[in-house]
Amino acid sequence: MKFVSEIKRTNYCGELSAQNNGQKVVLMGWVNGRRDHGGLVFIDLRDRTGLVQIVLNPQDAQMKMAKDIRGEYVIAISGKVQGRPDGMINKKLPTGEIEVVCESCEILSVAKTIPFQIDDQNVSENLRLKYRYLDLRSENLQKNLIIRHRVAQIVRNYYSDNKFLEVETPILYKSTPEGARDYLVPSRVSPGRFYALPQSPQTLKQLLMISGYDRYFQIAKCFRDEDLRAERQPEFTQIDVEMSFVDVEDIVQVSEGLFKKIWKEIKNVDIGDIPRITFQEAMDRFGNDKPDTRFAMELVNLASAVKGCGFKVFEDAISRGDVVKGIVVSGAGTYSRSQIDKLTKMAQTLGAKGLVWVKADASGVLTSSISKVIAEDKLKNIFSNSGAKNGDMLLIVADTFDTTSKALSQLRLHLGEELNLIDKTKDKFLWVIDFPLFEYDTENKRWAARHHPFTSPQNDSIEDLVEYNEKKFGNMLAKAYDLVCNGHELGGGSIRIFRNEVQSAMFKALGLGEEEVKIKFGFFIEALQYGTPPHGGIAFGLDRICMILCKTESIRDVIAFPKTAKASDLMAEAPNVVDRAQLLELGIRLGPQAEKLIEGEETATMD
Ligand code: AMO
Repeated sequence: MKFVSEIKRTNYCGELSAQNNGQKVVLMGWVNGRRDHGGLVFIDLRDRTGLVQIVLNPQDAQMKMAKDIRGEYVIAISGKVQGRPDGMINKKLPTGEIEVVCESCEILSVAKTIPFQIDDQNVSENLRLKYRYLDLRSENLQKNLIIRHRVAQIVRNYYSDNKFLEVETPILYKSTPEGARDYLVPSRVSPGRFYALPQSPQTLKQLLMISGYDRYFQIAKCFRDEDLRAERQPEFTQIDVEMSFVDVEDIVQVSEGLFKKIWKEIKNVDIGDIPRITFQEAMDRFGNDKPDTRFAMELVNLASAVKGCGFKVFEDAISRGDVVKGIVVSGAGTYSRSQIDKLTKMAQTLGAKGLVWVKADASGVLTSSISKVIAEDKLKNIFSNSGAKNGDMLLIVADTFDTTSKALSQLRLHLGEELNLIDKTKDKFLWVIDFPLFEYDTENKRWAARHHPFTSPQNDSIEDLVEYNEKKFGNMLAKAYDLVCNGHELGGGSIRIFRNEVQSAMFKALGLGEEEVKIKFGFFIEALQYGTPPHGGIAFGLDRICMILCKTESIRDVIAFPKTAKASDLMAEAPNVVDRAQLLELGIRLGPQAEKLIEGEETATMD
């Protein structure tokens, strides 16, 4: 008699069905659950594909170990598939019509009592991250990772079918221009020198165009040391693309083709052509350059409605050149003071000095936070001008364009959730185009690139840039575009500068001195001089795409081994202290602050 494990596995657990009735099978997997019933033991055996019920009889000599089997043990069984008796069919389980009557069983490995039940969503995320390999056994995470795998396959096939070449680029590299902090890696052979992990393969993919590769893509790891949020990880994956001899329309078309294919194959949904709006329109209508267009609420400009209204805050804002804008919250005329106070606090934490509200009850009687300082007819005029109706509430912010946009767009999103206005059954895509080329960094009093320094101005601004016409910098538009879905930035890219004099002018505009440019991008500037094709590209966040496809709120749910908001891996305990000898070899000495922080920790991990 052979051990069961010496025989080859014949089937996956979750793939068995009534079609296998009568067949002999060998299965291997984890014990998801075990029930003792009048002499018989029922086991739900689990593998990557799902669960199947196994019936064991511990009286049988081949199965006497059945009574020792516990949750998460790994076992092998051989047995026969049979239809479940009437009344025992489980419609909720894909394999619920059948069970496997065990003929022989073997425990392959035992398991300690697990710290939480697999699939228990009420367990703290930190505990689940510490035991990530157990959490990864859950149906949810397995489904997500399978979708991620399928998306990666679609991406590879799509680009390959469209004549793109997949080229890998280095991880040990040099600072790239995406603007976040770098992760640095010390060099042992060149003490005092460091590699930077790429924030994206930006310069490398442009170099590949100079090398004549024409169409490039890569599923690339990127590293950015920045404040983390639900949709940001310190290391994440981009679908990175670059093409030669193209303009904006070519990149948009090729990219749309990819998203149509992904949504068709994964969700069987036709997303159709993706609408486009300009950056300015997005800011005016939604206060945001990545608007969630699954619900209609939009910002209204109240500049003309507040003219001559007598309320100083509004009138002063307009005469300063600031804005007065509002949002109409349909059906919120019944909001209580405490509900409104919460909204006001929210606006204030976003930088607004205050939030003015006007609401109308069902019969049209107005109440307002400014009713004591404004004539009733003026208030009525502002309210009706905004498009608000009886039973609605109008929220108004008077501030700079940026602060007003920020406050109202956040209130819009918050109220969209609170009032259930968002149709979560649909995914709404949008291209945002015509971004400004520069933004002014008021703190450092200099111009910064809105996308990155290799982004081309639109044709009508090139001359002004080369001639350093600074007065025009604030109004220059870039050949840059973002793909947005449900309020998330899924991707961004641009047509690049390909002429050396334009690139030099750009660096100058960004306040980079010749020496700094030489150190940072000297190799790149030199390369531009050896025959550069016009080119452009885009990069999409693979994690964010999967997050939306899997309908989860965090990219951690679509990454096998993610990091926490503090950029640490709770399972492996990374980052961690390292051996002194290793530091010495790298020529690194810790500063007093770091020494103090790791005091005591070191000996613990060295043991
Ligand atoms: P950008 O910086 O806009 O462009 O990044 C492209 C896309 O990458 C995703 N992304 C992230 N995802 C998870 N965690 C992060 N920390 C994170 N940061 C960015 C987003 C974003 O839209 N080199 C340019 C592209 C180009 O010009 O071709 C670039 O990296 O989905």
